[in-house]
Amino acid sequence: MAASKVSNSLDSTFYRAADQFFPAFAHVGLTFDDVTLATLYSEILPRDTQLNTRLADSLQLNIPVISADMDTVTESRMAIAMALNGGLGLIHYNMPERQQLSELSRVKNHVHGLIQEPIKVTPDQYIGDVLKLIEQKRFRFPVVDGTGKLVGLLSGHVVKPRYAKRQVAEALTPRAQVQTINKKELGKDPIARADRFFTEHPGIHKLLVVDDEDHLHGLFTMSDVERIIQERNAQFKPARDARFRLVCGAAVSATRNAFGELDRERILNHVQALVERGVDVVAISTAHGHSKGVGEAVKMLRSAFPNLPIMAGNVTTAAGLDYLARCGANIIKVGQGPGSICTTRIVAGVGIPQMTALYVCSRAAAKQKVTIIADGGITKSGDIVKALTLADAVICGGLLAGCSEAPGEVMEIGGKLYKQYRGMGSLAAMKAGSAARYGHTENPSQKIAPEGVEALKEVAGSVDRVLAQLIGGIQSGMGYLGAANLAELKKKARYIRVSPAGQREAVPHDVLELKTGG
Ligand code: XMP
Repeated sequence: MAASKVSNSLDSTFYRAADQFFPAFAHVGLTFDDVTLATLYSEILPRDTQLNTRLADSLQLNIPVISADMDTVTESRMAIAMALNGGLGLIHYNMPERQQLSELSRVKNHVHGLIQEPIKVTPDQYIGDVLKLIEQKRFRFPVVDGTGKLVGLLSGHVVKPRYAKRQVAEALTPRAQVQTINKKELGKDPIARADRFFTEHPGIHKLLVVDDEDHLHGLFTMSDVERIIQERNAQFKPARDARFRLVCGAAVSATRNAFGELDRERILNHVQALVERGVDVVAISTAHGHSKGVGEAVKMLRSAFPNLPIMAGNVTTAAGLDYLARCGANIIKVGQGPGSICTTRIVAGVGIPQMTALYVCSRAAAKQKVTIIADGGITKSGDIVKALTLADAVICGGLLAGCSEAPGEVMEIGGKLYKQYRGMGSLAAMKAGSAARYGHTENPSQKIAPEGVEALKEVAGSVDRVLAQLIGGIQSGMGYLGAANLAELKKKARYIRVSPAGQREAVPHDVLELKTGG
């Protein structure tokens, strides 16, 4: 072995592997900032590290990051962006079940680069109306009749104030001259198909997608297709299912009926509908996963859907993990009270700091052959690296809530832009439907103690941008440890406890900060 790779006994006295380190701190709850990782000899460049993770046999991600099933974090736009980046979004359940099904369908039917709902106009509209729709020059508007059938295309060249009083019908390029492709012909790689079309048809920049009845299903633009082809060289590919659709998860509420029993029929019918639409994992997210109701719900779903990946939680104990694994969950969420909007530890006085909880649960998970997810409290990429030394993926709420793909409006306060971010145990979220998650009924007359706050997050730009920063940090951490993949990261991690002075030393200090790293 080369001298550079030989371990040094002095190092092992100070920097300990998980099974030596955590039991030595059995009397204290440790979280991310309480520990730091020691470097190791490395031949691994950050950019060469692999971040793929297997959460269940049929659920593999290309990056180990999941967006939280919270009503201010994940609906279809967020889930699409997460899967396109190689991760996963969990669509929250604070909405009518039918709406959750259609949010899921949007993700599963999403074709990258295909504008599924282009701005359409009807023949009887006036050009003046269309002018109002224009945000960008040289737009083309598909023209459809009342049933959604393609009638023609309205070119940007005729959408001018001088024609404002003319009807669209008088100015459109007729159907026979419009280039279309049948949805069925798109095949497994719609972008490659559209790219070939544009090469074969010089001068055509738009391609409309129709079905056998000529109903409009979307629009490809050459510029989008070219951008995506360029991006294909990206290291982390979108996370897709066996049928090449984006992966997507959905949270399911373990609701109870009027007699206080698990509402079996309602839950089973809804999950059946999710499965029919291609859901890749269902999440039974509650504040206390080691409880009868959650166990019953998991057992019921496992027996009805033997092959469906089931994520359940949350737990922070080995007994809680064993219980959910035995009930049939494949993926267990670990975290009670670490979340940025959580007040469980203040209100209920319970919960375990996250690194200790992850260590305990990771050892129980290895015995049960299930995977675990670090859920809550992640505020920076370094926290993710630490979490991944024990867990198979992380869930982020606050880190993604400020992104443009998160639900909710942008608001301006004092010249800064913010988006709403609230705990699912906040009063407002529980009123909107998540009370069951915290073991409460939805009866508003009952007195309930909220376990989360309503807050704001500064606007953070796109998910692509935020994830690029996080992934860069994870890869950097892996490079320092000489870990080529996540399995090696787990094997190689060695920890040391950080003192309060060490924590101060770890962040910018004694300088006037002009620009943040992000
Ligand atoms: P972060 O730190 O990423 O945490 O913002 C997101 C996770 O926090 C959990 N969660 C809550 N926990 N009260 C809690 O105690 C709440 O109101 C609440 N809402 C969400 C959840 O696990 C989420 O993924």
